[in-house]
Amino acid sequence: MQSQGRLIDVFSAAGRHALETRLGVFVAARRWFRSKTRAVAATSLVCAVPLPGEVKEMVLAVVRVGFVEGADEQYVLPLTWVHGDAADHLTRARPDLVVGAVTVDGEERPRWLIDALGDRHALEGLYGLFARSAVVTAGGAEVAFRAVGGGFERFADDAVEPRPIQTEQSNTSVAFGTSCVVKVLRKLEEGTPPDVEMGEMLTRAGFAHAPRLLAVAEVAWPGAAVATIAMASAFVPNVGDAWSFVLATLARRTVSADGADDAVRFASTLATRVAELHGILAAPSQDARFSPEPIERPEREAIAQALVRSLDDVLSRLDHHARRLPPDARERLGALRRRAPAVRDIAARFVAADGACVKTRVHGDLHLGQVLVSGDDLVLIDFEGEPARPLVERKSKRSPLVDVAGMVRSLHYASVAAARQPARDVPIDGLRRAAEAWHVAARRAFLDEYFRASAGRSVLPAAPGARDTLLYFYLLEKCVYELYYELDNRPDWVPIPVLGLQRILEEIDAG
Ligand SMILES: Nc1ncnc2c1ncn2[C@@H]1O[C@H](COP(=O)(O)OP(=O)(O)O)[C@@H](O)[C@H]1O
Ligand SMILES: [Mg+2]
Repeated sequence: MQSQGRLIDVFSAAGRHALETRLGVFVAARRWFRSKTRAVAATSLVCAVPLPGEVKEMVLAVVRVGFVEGADEQYVLPLTWVHGDAADHLTRARPDLVVGAVTVDGEERPRWLIDALGDRHALEGLYGLFARSAVVTAGGAEVAFRAVGGGFERFADDAVEPRPIQTEQSNTSVAFGTSCVVKVLRKLEEGTPPDVEMGEMLTRAGFAHAPRLLAVAEVAWPGAAVATIAMASAFVPNVGDAWSFVLATLARRTVSADGADDAVRFASTLATRVAELHGILAAPSQDARFSPEPIERPEREAIAQALVRSLDDVLSRLDHHARRLPPDARERLGALRRRAPAVRDIAARFVAADGACVKTRVHGDLHLGQVLVSGDDLVLIDFEGEPARPLVERKSKRSPLVDVAGMVRSLHYASVAAARQPARDVPIDGLRRAAEAWHVAARRAFLDEYFRASAGRSVLPAAPGARDTLLYFYLLEKCVYELYYELDNRPDWVPIPVLGLQRILEEIDAG
């Protein structure tokens, strides 16, 4: 790659081919790259907008990745460069940030093109762009930073210390001091992302248990619809997410008795917050994006058929996988097959549940990892929906019990994961028993409190029987999703949804 002295030169027509090749290699190796199993055919630069920074030049690049089969994807890549000693240090310490070397006219040593989200000065520049609500145009493309609701300006004078957030992520998030968190949405999709729509709505509704949305950044170029590249939300002081919190709690326990109170307190708070969220989302609205709607019979039939079909499909995939399962999980598989008719029964009852089914906007990917532990309270984050689904689907309305099922399953996952990570000095059997006792207490408390807090809400069936039918239906749906996910990504974890599914089918059978 080549430059006459400015960063934007790297993106000029002359050097474009070399740049695109490097960008292709870089993007495909990132954790946030969504299509790791597809063969990449070609990478091209869609737009490159120089963003003014006080200290550091930055360019917002959008890269299109074409595949041998299937639809293209576009990725957001804020880039900057480093040189001199800083470059030597960075290329050694953070090779994951480096796109490649750039030869600059008149300079002996190369500069290095890097991911700007790993560069302190570039990040300070990004913060400034948000704070000033900057609008930048270049070559027909426009990048606009826009305050939303609470606005971003109020933080402009605070000391901002950028801190990249290192937890497992499908995007890239950076905290600025205790002011805000900027999430750069790596996969570019046309239209407003669910996280922004939901953030705006919940901020306007005054929901105190999700981060306030402060600002968004959008890009547009000729022939393309506006797409969101980043969002800024208020920083939530926290000691980590609820998944880590539960695992740490369980690692300390060997006796179930003193765990039950904790489990009940934690799960009740969680249920209260989820029920409050659902209360806001269930309110009548003039805004068609948010108004609750009935799930009519044809839609219920389609959902039910899809569940029955995918359960059959995933069970046959599990049969192929059976050799690799531990003996107890293999036995369970046999039991599952025998109980499978219960699924058809629940599916039929779901279809027949007339007048009881309403869909609203939902969180869509609710689990313990999407909850921050803040003081002795909990805050719900990441309203982006399941990352693998397309944007339109992630914004679709569904029964709020989808979220409830997600959380119930997550409580189970956490209890099994806790028992799988034996702590020092704690016998594994004690750990397992304590984790299971915690799970039973937490699940009961979560559901009791959720249904207590949502009683009388017209989106849920009033009769406990009908309500349970819906809950079981969505629990089964979630287990099937988990089975596919684990078979593809973490075969070691397959026994968890197998056990989950078996238990749910047993409960259904027991009436
Ligand atoms: N408003 C916030 N305040 C503090 N930390 C946050 C905030 N939003 C996100 N985080 C941190 O960033 C991590 C990733 O955020 P998330 O929205 O879940 O992104 P992703 O789409 O990558 O999963 C969270 O687990 C949390 O640690
Ligand atoms: Mg997340």
